[in-house]
Amino acid sequence: MGMRRNLCFTLLVLSVLVLSASLALANTLELDKDPELKSCRRQCKEEFKDRQKKMCLQKCEDDYRQKRREKQNRECQVKCGEMYDEGGQQWQVCRMTCQNNYMNEINEPGSDQGQEWEGGQEEEEEEDENPYVFESHHFLSKVKTEHGRILSIPKFDRRSKLLRGIRRYRVAILQVNPETVLTPTHLDATSVFFVSSGQGTINVIHEDRRDSFKLEKGVLLRLRAGTTFSIVNHRQRDKLNIIQLLRSVNNAGLFEPFFLAAGSNPESFFTTFSSEILEAAFKTSKGELQRLFSRREQGQGVFVKASKEQIRALSDRKEGGGIWPFGSQSRGTHRLFKQPPTQCNNFGQLYEADRNVYPPLEDEDLSISYANISQDAMIGPYYNAEATKIAVVTDGDGYFEMACPHVSKSSDDEQQQQEGRSGVTYHKIRSAIKTGSVFIVPAGHPVVTVASNRGNLEIVCFEVNAKHNVRYMLSGKKNVVTKMNREEKELTFDAKREEVDRVFGKQDEELFFQGPKWRQQPGQGRAYE
Ligand SMILES: *[C@@H]1O[C@H](CO)[C@@H](O)[C@H](O)[C@H]1NC(C)=O
Repeated sequence: MGMRRNLCFTLLVLSVLVLSASLALANTLELDKDPELKSCRRQCKEEFKDRQKKMCLQKCEDDYRQKRREKQNRECQVKCGEMYDEGGQQWQVCRMTCQNNYMNEINEPGSDQGQEWEGGQEEEEEEDENPYVFESHHFLSKVKTEHGRILSIPKFDRRSKLLRGIRRYRVAILQVNPETVLTPTHLDATSVFFVSSGQGTINVIHEDRRDSFKLEKGVLLRLRAGTTFSIVNHRQRDKLNIIQLLRSVNNAGLFEPFFLAAGSNPESFFTTFSSEILEAAFKTSKGELQRLFSRREQGQGVFVKASKEQIRALSDRKEGGGIWPFGSQSRGTHRLFKQPPTQCNNFGQLYEADRNVYPPLEDEDLSISYANISQDAMIGPYYNAEATKIAVVTDGDGYFEMACPHVSKSSDDEQQQQEGRSGVTYHKIRSAIKTGSVFIVPAGHPVVTVASNRGNLEIVCFEVNAKHNVRYMLSGKKNVVTKMNREEKELTFDAKREEVDRVFGKQDEELFFQGPKWRQQPGQGRAYE
């Protein structure tokens, strides 16, 4: 009997060991595919350099490894439940073996490194063929909880030298889930909010008073750096989505939210102070402070689900500062869609806000436009004289084409110029875009954006360096060529003026045109290509 039992145990222990080893192997194979680890690593590469980057990468790997060990342990325990009767002796031994393996691995960090990280380490930043477009996999998450998210696209000058001109800016997306509050926060960046969908209220604590503003699609709000704000989504179903253009005040392109709220993920900035400091600052006891600042449970962070009554109270805008021009000049919001479009035809509408209709934009040297391109239609070709356009697709899909004088491998660019590469060639940047895509159009670069045949394509554009900007049309009414005199036309194209006029004078719409698909005649192939 004793012999048999021992044998059983030995077999049991062996089988658990084999089991956890095979789980480990399976996990190793999954490793390079793990999206969270990938995104963590990308974040390190884009945010940091040298030693900091190394430390950041190391932390990603450590966190990942710990999570994987925990998962392995859980899976091992589950297997015990499947193999043996719950509560029985064999079940207990099995579970203990799982636990021991887990503890051994924790105490011997590095024992599971070896082969599995080699692939990961070699992964290097791929050369960017098209640094002008950011898709969802480029987004970094600052805060991610079940009630809301703050995402941002990487620093522009990290992505490519070609984007150095806008390195002080950053695009972030703020998403507040239904019946949820983003608790008071401030940023070390000036920000311009554009509500792309949903409804809610933003409460703003200014130096001398508190203001409340209604948020709905098309609302613009400039908040100066350091202003404390909170946001309420009072809807039962819809998320509240806000696109933010941030301009850093500390380090170009870096921004951080500072959360006042108590919580542990992320934590309140208050809790980093020593308790004797807080006791003195608040003239209160350590116990009371601890109770206040550690009330919220793990995982609950800055986004907090609120009761119906709380939501109602927080959405009460009676004391509100009002909407520009009725509120204080530099503090109100501006509703982009409350004014008629500045350009409008069958193929689309353009809404624009500049410093004349919303004065805070003057401080930011910014103008904002919203293009609603009809299904199968297009906007452009045109170029901006001085402004760089940071565009975010809010709805629909399609593509854009841009003429770029820079070679695709941005890092070679200067070298080639120094080597005296003669002549200028234009590279065609063409890219599909869809809801959530961000794309950049530098000043002077001719661009066209085309909506798909599935529906309208809606894009919000932040134009930086806007003060002296002019939009120059390259086709349609008012295009630059029609304003040239005869000699210019003939010399430019080496053709008769009439011929030039026939081409440049035919399109009689402005800015928005019928898209290319409609030019496709059976048997004639594509009109352009
Ligand atoms: C864009 O145009 C479509 C169709 O004309 C319309 O339904 C939609 O409301 C427009 N979007 C905005 C933001 O005006």
